[in-house]
Amino acid sequence: MVSVYFYLALLLPVVSAHFSITYPYWRGDSFATQYTRPCGGVNVTTNRTEWPLDGGSLSFGAGHPWAITYVNLALGDDETITFNISLIEGFNQTGKGDVCFSKLSIPESLGIADGTNASLQVIQLGELGSSLYNCADITFKKDAKILENDQCKNSSTIGWEQLGSSTTSNPPPSTTDDESAASQTGGAAIFAPGSIAALGFSTMLIATLMGLAF
Ligand SMILES: *[C@@H]1O[C@H](CO)[C@@H](O)[C@H](O)[C@H]1NC(C)=O
Ligand SMILES: *[C@@H]1O[C@H](CO)[C@@H](O)[C@H](O)[C@H]1NC(C)=O
Ligand SMILES: *[C@@H]1O[C@H](CO)[C@@H](O)[C@H](O)[C@H]1NC(C)=O
Ligand SMILES: *[C@@H]1O[C@H](CO)[C@@H](O)[C@H](O)[C@H]1NC(C)=O
Ligand SMILES: *[C@@H]1O[C@H](CO)[C@@H](O)[C@H](O)[C@H]1NC(C)=O
Ligand SMILES: *[C@@H]1O[C@H](CO)[C@@H](O)[C@H](O)[C@H]1NC(C)=O
Repeated sequence: MVSVYFYLALLLPVVSAHFSITYPYWRGDSFATQYTRPCGGVNVTTNRTEWPLDGGSLSFGAGHPWAITYVNLALGDDETITFNISLIEGFNQTGKGDVCFSKLSIPESLGIADGTNASLQVIQLGELGSSLYNCADITFKKDAKILENDQCKNSSTIGWEQLGSSTTSNPPPSTTDDESAASQTGGAAIFAPGSIAALGFSTMLIATLMGLAF
C-alpha cells in the first residue's frame, strides 16, 4: 500500500491546481488558502491598481483543464464589501495559460467617480466541485488606462465554452431503444456508485503508473 500512497502524492499537485490574477495586481499569494471565500484567504490591501471609470483590463493565469469562471465587483475598501456586481456572464474556461479581458465594462448605474475604491473577484469552480478565489483591489481614476494590446492576450491553449453548451452538443444517449436502455441499466446495477469511483480511480492510477514506467 505504501507505493499506492506514494503515487497518490505525486497526483496531488495535478488535482489541486490553482490560479492567479496577474492584472490588476492581486491581493497577494493565496496558494495555501485559495478555497477560502471571498478572496482566497487574503484580506483587503491598500495597494490599489488604477482602473478607468467605465471599466478596465483583467488578466489571470489559469491552471486547470477547465473551470466555470465568474468575475465580480464589490464597491468599498474594507472586509465587509459584497461581491454582487457581475462583470461577465459565467463561462467554462478551458485549458491552461493566460486569459485576458481588454476591457470589462462597468454598469453606469453604479455611479463610479474618480477615487471610488473597489475590488475585483475571480471565481473558478473546478471539476471536483470546489471553488477557488482571488481578488485584486482597485481605485477608479479618470485618467487610468486599459492594458496595451501586447500586454493583454489569451494563450492559444485557452478555450472558451458557454455554460450548458456541452449538453447541447453531446445529447444523452437515446432511451427509445429498449434493448440498449435495459442493458445500460443492467450494467449500472452491477456496480455500486462507490465501486465505479474506485474503478475510475484505479484506472487513473494505473494510467499514471504506466506513464511513469515508460
Ligand atoms: C483578515 O480580516 C479578518 C476580519 O477583519 C481578521 O479577523 C483576520 O485576522 C485578518 N487576517 C489577516 C491575515 O490579517
Ligand atoms: C481608497 O483606499 C485607499 C487605501 O486603499 C484610501 O487611502 C483612500 O482614502 C480610499 N478612498 C476613498 C474615497 O475612500
Ligand atoms: C503593489 O503593487 C505593485 C504593482 O502595482 C507591485 O509591483 C508591488 O509589489 C505591490 N506591493 C506589495 C507590497 O504587494
Ligand atoms: C450589493 O451589496 C451591497 C451591500 O450589501 C448593497 O448595498 C447593494 O444594493 C447590492 N447590490 C446589488 C446589485 O445587489
Ligand atoms: C467544460 O469544458 C470541458 C472541455 O470541453 C468539458 O470537459 C467540461 O465538461 C465542461 N464543463 C462544464 C461544466 O460544462
Ligand atoms: C480572450 O477570450 C475571451 C473569450 O473569447 C474574449 O472575451 C476576450 O476578449 C479575449 N481577449 C483578448 C485580449 O482578445
